[in-house]
Amino acid sequence: MKPTDELSQEHRAILTMIAILGRMADRLDAGTAVDPDDLDRSVEFIRIFADQCHHAKEEGHLFPEMERAGVPRDRGPIGVMLAEHVTGRGYVAAMANAVPGIRKADRQAGAAFAAAARGYGELLTRHIDKEDRILYPLADARLTPQQQESLRECFLEVEKTIVGAGRHEEFHRLLERLEKAYPA
Ligand SMILES: [Fe+2]
Ligand SMILES: [Fe+2]
Repeated sequence: MKPTDELSQEHRAILTMIAILGRMADRLDAGTAVDPDDLDRSVEFIRIFADQCHHAKEEGHLFPEMERAGVPRDRGPIGVMLAEHVTGRGYVAAMANAVPGIRKADRQAGAAFAAAARGYGELLTRHIDKEDRILYPLADARLTPQQQESLRECFLEVEKTIVGAGRHEEFHRLLERLEKAYPA
């Protein structure tokens, strides 16, 4: 499996969580109760699985290898991807900040969470599409077999140090449970 295939697989999990967050947002907007613990766990999934793990693989390893292979960071797709990661973190912070209010049944906090979750979902859906269709094929075309091998090792290291043993599976179980609890 190519390192970019691993990243594309992670995209599928992130998109599943985005769909779940969309359904949670619908409930919050309709004034239907959503378990605040589920909101916290969803934010934690995005922070650790998407931002700290997936984005760390891109920012700390894939993008630098692409730069070494001659893909410019500024005025190019890498710069756009980095800027979108930063914008995404703003939405995630807004979601996290809204949860304490939701615990106190504050409707405004519910609306704030829903708006941030939708903003995050729209941003990341477009972002993931650009990476899958443009950036990753560019990486596959440019990176040498040695760079691919080094990326594979770096990704393993990110899994071990940032996510931790067994945690990845735990996140997938969370997705399964939330998909059932918040069905389409
Ligand atoms: Fe990205
Ligand atoms: Fe990505």
